[in-house]
Amino acid sequence: MSAEVVIVVDGAPVIARAGTSVAVALTETGRLAWRTTRFGGAPRGLFCGIGVCYDCLVEIDGAPAQRACIVPVADGMKVNTRAGHE
Ligand code: FES
Repeated sequence: MSAEVVIVVDGAPVIARAGTSVAVALTETGRLAWRTTRFGGAPRGLFCGIGVCYDCLVEIDGAPAQRACIVPVADGMKVNTRAGHE
């Protein structure tokens, strides 16, 4: 059994496995997409998983446009998935 941390996603606590990325934590909550494209509103979320495609952008602890797939979760981390919509 792995250790757990609690992150805050869009204002709600989420239990995540320590050592996983923010993108994995979001996916494990059932979120397959957490932002949309500016034009057309196409869903975007975890795609490449290695920091190349920028589809997984979120705000983390107030820093905008962070690639969720390459940032490990940390206890108390605040993630805003709506920050990159507009
Ligand atoms: S999923 Fe491609 S950069 Fe994160």
